[in-house]
Amino acid sequence: MCFGLGRANNRSAGMLTLLTTIIGVYSVACWLYENLRTPVLLLLRGAQKFFLGGQQSLPEKYGPWAGASDGIGKGYAHFLASQGMKLLLIARNEAKLKRVADEIAAKHSTDTDILVADFSRGEEIYERLESELRSLDIGILVNNVGVINEKPIRLEQMEKRLLWDLININVGAATLLSNIVIPQMKKRHRGLIINISSLSSLAPTPYLAVYAATKAYMTSFSLALREELAPHGIECQTVSPGYVHTSMTEYLVPATDGQKDSLSTRLVKVADMIRYAGFTIAKADQTTGHWSHGIQTAILKMLPASLKLRVFTKLYTKLLHEHSGTTKKQT
Ligand SMILES: NC(=O)c1ccc[n+]([C@@H]2O[C@H](COP(=O)([O-])OP(=O)(O)OC[C@H]3O[C@@H](n4cnc5c(N)ncnc54)[C@H](OP(=O)(O)O)[C@@H]3O)[C@@H](O)[C@H]2O)c1
Repeated sequence: MCFGLGRANNRSAGMLTLLTTIIGVYSVACWLYENLRTPVLLLLRGAQKFFLGGQQSLPEKYGPWAGASDGIGKGYAHFLASQGMKLLLIARNEAKLKRVADEIAAKHSTDTDILVADFSRGEEIYERLESELRSLDIGILVNNVGVINEKPIRLEQMEKRLLWDLININVGAATLLSNIVIPQMKKRHRGLIINISSLSSLAPTPYLAVYAATKAYMTSFSLALREELAPHGIECQTVSPGYVHTSMTEYLVPATDGQKDSLSTRLVKVADMIRYAGFTIAKADQTTGHWSHGIQTAILKMLPASLKLRVFTKLYTKLLHEHSGTTKKQT
């Protein structure tokens, strides 16, 4: 009888080992697929271009015009102009838009136009935008306009205006602009929509709760749109960067020179991000925009959702305390 019990125990232990091995192998396979899919695609498509050549330029593949704006968007604008795209810069600050347009036109000798629009005004601006955009053959739309709370803050302390801005700008602009350009892209059976999400879409982020939720929307929206548009020859790329040095992350840069903050040293320069993100255009449908953000994402994706939330809570609680009482540096 003891012998029988021992055999039963051995069988259960064997089953348990088999089950945990299967779960382990399956989890590792999923993680590898999720994180190596983009690098493998980039290698394959990069090699294809290098050895076989003859690939179409971006204007030939997608259409002549691209829409973008400042910050990361300005990086994209420079990159796309260097690839022969004509540019339509859309943002709210006319003087800044003109300056960037002149800079790009002088550097890349390409047609550069501007369109002043304040996305914080919501629904009322889109009729005009639609009629302006209808006349252009938009091949690439970079949905990058975005705002963030100046620094981590509790929801009840945020001004209602900023809450509406986060929704109208971060969620509304990408959604409505895509809605406007898709019909003409469908007619031409070509086009690319690049949606700038964020690494903060990976987990809910306390004290940046609304911003992170708008970015979770962007990722979900963009991945779903990719599937909707693929049968029509239109591509949709989701870009989810970590910290990039723009006006949005200026608060992380210490006010005093020489003072080193662990996050500020990890800010990636826009030019470095765009060198990598630009390479992924037409090759991968998902990217973090920079290899170092790819590593951060891969590590975060090893964690279960509840642990990711704990990590983000710890990080942003620290930032909340460090930056309470400070105001954004002028750039
Ligand atoms: N920086 C980062 O670390 C980081 C990381 C992950 C994701 N992202 C995402 O990347 C995107 C670009 O951010 P960024 O860092 O480049 O920030 P940025 O330098 O502040 O640029 C934001 C852009 O959005 C435009 N914009 C803001 N409010 C607007 C409004 N009401 N109407 C029209 N345009 C408006 C700005 O135009 P004006 O100049 O005219 O105001 C500017 O062109 C955002 O979607 C952000 O969430 C950034």
